[in-house]
Amino acid sequence: MSMKLPFFKNKQKDKQNNFDNTPKHVAIIMDGNGRWAKKRGLPRIAGHKEGMNVVKEIVRAARNCDVKILTLYAFSTENWKRPKPEVEYIMKLPKEFLHIYLPELIEKNVRIETFGDFDALPYHTKEAVEYAKEKTKNNDGLLLNFALNYGSRFEIMNAIKEIISDIDNSNLTLETLDENKFSEYLYTKGLTDPDLLIRTSGEQRLSNFLLWQAAYSELWFTDVLWPDFSEEIFKEALYDYQQRKRRYGGI
Ligand code: FPP
Repeated sequence: MSMKLPFFKNKQKDKQNNFDNTPKHVAIIMDGNGRWAKKRGLPRIAGHKEGMNVVKEIVRAARNCDVKILTLYAFSTENWKRPKPEVEYIMKLPKEFLHIYLPELIEKNVRIETFGDFDALPYHTKEAVEYAKEKTKNNDGLLLNFALNYGSRFEIMNAIKEIISDIDNSNLTLETLDENKFSEYLYTKGLTDPDLLIRTSGEQRLSNFLLWQAAYSELWFTDVLWPDFSEEIFKEALYDYQQRKRRYGGI
């Protein structure tokens, strides 16, 4: 039997890492941008801007740690309630992020995808994201998945509507509807469920993120605000994940 060494134990750089039992799919609720900015007497949007740069660092960390899918909650269906200038600013971030980092993401074989209610996004956001998806569609390295205008209840409700419609049209029968089939009606169709779900900023809730998919995810919370999150903290989360025993309801 091979010995499973705790691979991020020394929190030293990559050569120390042991990639046994790495979470294949890591999802992150990137929270705390506003508080980060407030603490510094800056406008909330400054926190989002800094948060955008941290996204890049964590993409690199995920690649270094052999994570296959990184899913980031960038904008929820509830975030439209924020002041209009803040929403407009957040909607510009994907374009800005891709303008700066797309060449490197392409070079590093990263595939970009999004999920959520895409049609309702501003044209400029959709255009930038579509371009990046097209440019990276054949990459087979890390899948960088942005949840954009995403809400889990909306997703589940739509799945139910589609299922009913497919049953009405005889494309589906109640007898063949099981959990796997249901998953095919979600935005995350074809993806494995998140193994590890991280939330920053001290809040300990799911906030309408991947409610179905996170049924058996390991949850990891930190008080660190998203703009202060780092590769080192990401590795700490992975290390903690590796120490856990996942039982999926068994013993
Ligand atoms: C939550 O913090 C953060 C958001 C709603 C926006 C997240 C967006 C980014 C991190 C940048 C995304 C980057 C790309 C590339 C799309 P909050 O504003 O709720 O913080 P608070 O709880 O302290 O107010």
